[in-house]
Amino acid sequence: MPPTSQPELVTTVAELRAALGSVRRGGKTIALIPTMGDLHEGHLSLVRAAKQECDYTVVSIYVNPSQFGRGEDLDKYPRTLRTDLDALAECGVELVLAPGDDEVYRPQHATWVEVGAVGEPLEGRHRPDHFRGVATIVLKLLNMVGPDVAYFGQKDYQQALVIRQMVEDLDVPVELRICPTVREPDGLAMSSRNAYLSPEARQRSLALHRSLELAEQLIAAGQCSAQSILDRMQQELLTAADDARIDYLALADPDTLEPVHEIRGPVVALLAVHIENTRLIDNRILQMTKHK
Ligand code: PAJ
Repeated sequence: MPPTSQPELVTTVAELRAALGSVRRGGKTIALIPTMGDLHEGHLSLVRAAKQECDYTVVSIYVNPSQFGRGEDLDKYPRTLRTDLDALAECGVELVLAPGDDEVYRPQHATWVEVGAVGEPLEGRHRPDHFRGVATIVLKLLNMVGPDVAYFGQKDYQQALVIRQMVEDLDVPVELRICPTVREPDGLAMSSRNAYLSPEARQRSLALHRSLELAEQLIAAGQCSAQSILDRMQQELLTAADDARIDYLALADPDTLEPVHEIRGPVVALLAVHIENTRLIDNRILQMTKHK
């Protein structure tokens, strides 16, 4: 294996701009992958996509307080900068931005990005102000770094739509890439929050993936009634995880997230479920088989 060099680590916007000045003057394309750290293969798949496409890769690591609601896991969210830097070094990342709270939200901070209809249902209903926090930090990171391309995961489907809406509405000069969800071999979508699960709950959490697979099979078999599919998904979930507390289970238009009642084209199935005390989300885009 070739020797890996640690990425340059900066914690202030001034240092960041100094580091990026010569990169930009050299005509290199810059990628940004915003993260909250505790990196796993899902995050690293975005880094690898960026490395393929751009000349210089920046990863931000910042646990953004404004997107956590009261009673959520802000305090216990894992902070693992040293091991994250090692993983990023192996991927050949050039620069890591890991600012402190004071650098990101100065005491006089007063401007927030309000997202429209696409942020309202589903996560928006269960986590009020979450997307306002996400949109604001992502816009700030895009403004700090000024990347040519920014990478996000389909794992957070609604988040990706919210960011797409913001970038279009506010003329943010960046291209977005939404990359596929990376899963554990048994199908569980990778997430920093999976580590909160006990071994038994980890097993029950496969219910999410299973119910998405069931929806896919039902649609492929020609089932057109969204309600019938949702009923079967719920049944599957509660059979595989009897303690599951469902925040939502939905079949929606992949672009607007408006509920779909009759399946006539591609839909996205989305769900958020508490298993033990951990909230898990997952989604899958479902296509009807042709000629049906
Ligand atoms: P975080 O949860 O750390 O995720 C960072 C990025 O990794 C997001 O774009 C997310 O969708 C992607 N990601 C997470 N798990 C993934 C998986 N299993 N497969 C593919 N991609 C995955 O999402 C956030 O942070 C924050 O909201 C952020 C955008 C950084 C703003 O604070």
